[in-house]
Amino acid sequence: MTDILILGAGGHGRVVLDIIHHARTYNPVGFLDNNAALHGRRIDGLPVLGGMNDLEKLKTTGIRAAIIAVGDNGVRRALGDQLESHDFEIVSAIHPSAQLARNTTIGKGVVIAAGALVCAHCQIGDYAILNTGCIIDHESMIGMATHICPGVRLAGHVTVESGAHIGIGATVIQNVRIGFESIVGAGAVVTQDVDPMTTVVGVPARPIKNAPSVSEFTDLIAPDGRDPMYVSTR
Ligand SMILES: CC(C)(COP(=O)(O)OP(=O)(O)OC[C@H]1O[C@@H](n2cnc3c(N)ncnc32)[C@H](O)[C@@H]1OP(=O)(O)O)[C@@H](O)C(=O)NCCC(=O)NCCS
Repeated sequence: MTDILILGAGGHGRVVLDIIHHARTYNPVGFLDNNAALHGRRIDGLPVLGGMNDLEKLKTTGIRAAIIAVGDNGVRRALGDQLESHDFEIVSAIHPSAQLARNTTIGKGVVIAAGALVCAHCQIGDYAILNTGCIIDHESMIGMATHICPGVRLAGHVTVESGAHIGIGATVIQNVRIGFESIVGAGAVVTQDVDPMTTVVGVPARPIKNAPSVSEFTDLIAPDGRDPMYVSTR
């Protein structure tokens, strides 16, 4: 099995480690996290080997692959660029209990959590997260660096543009397009297209603001919240 690093030792990092253990496709050798307080500690048994500055050093030990386990969409994308510039292979993690239609197309650096269900002819872009128990129905397109949160239900032919966050338990009806870097609030029911960089909430979903802050998601995965690794590129 190929040795891999997990970038991000927060809550999402723990989820990704668990997926990798279940999938048995890669051998996780350690986390990297720019939060120096975590360096040298073990998270769920796996050591935190250092931060992003240690990539080159670790490469000399023969590690050439990594997965990005950071919840913030912009940061995931930026870390992907960084990994590529260091010539690292970017791998995906798919929980064995997830069910994917045979004709699903999946990009690099994708995380698909336990119980996710992807129906026929869907495309999943690079660095997307399909979180626990979400349902992506037929012919939906999930853009680059998006986060489809736990329990989300997307009907058929939904498009989620890059950087969008579909909040926990939200529902999106068929043929709807969610604009880039938009946020759909927890539990919303989206019945019409959402403009780019717009936050919508409620049933039916209505906009509350533009150019939303993603800091709350950042805090979920980076308790100190101050580290540049976790600052949104938005
Ligand atoms: C939508 C969301 C991003 C808004 O966060 P915010 O920009 O900080 O907005 P605020 O908390 O200031 O709320 C603004 C208004 O929207 C309302 N609101 C916020 N989230 C809402 C939701 N999910 N459903 C309905 N109303 C909501 C608030 O009550 C508030 O209403 P008011 O102005 O009448 O008081 C956030 O509430 C949310 O739902 N996040 C999703 C979290 C998630 O998916 N977690 C899973 C991670 S794996």
